[in-house]
Amino acid sequence: MDELLKWRDEFPILGRTTYLISNSLGAMPRGVYACLHDYAEAWDTRGVRAWEEGWWEMAVKVGDRIGALLGAAAGDISLHQNVTLTQAVIASCFDFAGPRNKVVLVDMEFPSIIYFYTEQQRRGARVEVVKSEDGICIPWRDCSLLLTRTPYWCRCHMFFFAALTL
Ligand SMILES: Cc1ncc(COP(=O)(O)O)c(C=O)c1O
Repeated sequence: MDELLKWRDEFPILGRTTYLISNSLGAMPRGVYACLHDYAEAWDTRGVRAWEEGWWEMAVKVGDRIGALLGAAAGDISLHQNVTLTQAVIASCFDFAGPRNKVVLVDMEFPSIIYFYTEQQRRGARVEVVKSEDGICIPWRDCSLLLTRTPYWCRCHMFFFAALTL
């Protein structure tokens, strides 16, 4: 038997339905009820002190746990509110006013990512959205041809509609 099956009971919705989505709102682990209770308890009993008693450090601690799974060093993974806002944090590090102002992405990215980078043209970015011929494969050659003077290639590790994992 697959040893991963022992985790199945931790996701109650799997007992009621076939739940295939994993890169958007995944199946809720049963432990979430207790965690949300702890969160409310800290807020209720500690009020604003809850920030310095754990909340501020939580994004770093959770990042380190994810990093351990990915083989990243402690402190390498930075967690943010959502994917699109994380792209905004990264993009804010680049000065698109200079000559190296190109952003390359493929049209298989999630729509909000494409909207976000298209709007970076207002900051001077030259945005190249490369078309995938079949909606499944990355057009590597087309992308690499565009990579001169490109400080930034936005490339996700999992494309949402093709379930293509890099
Ligand atoms: C692959 C992928 N990228 C980006 C997003 C956008 O995420 P967010 O709404 O957190 O910005 C999603 C949302 O499901 C996604 O599946």
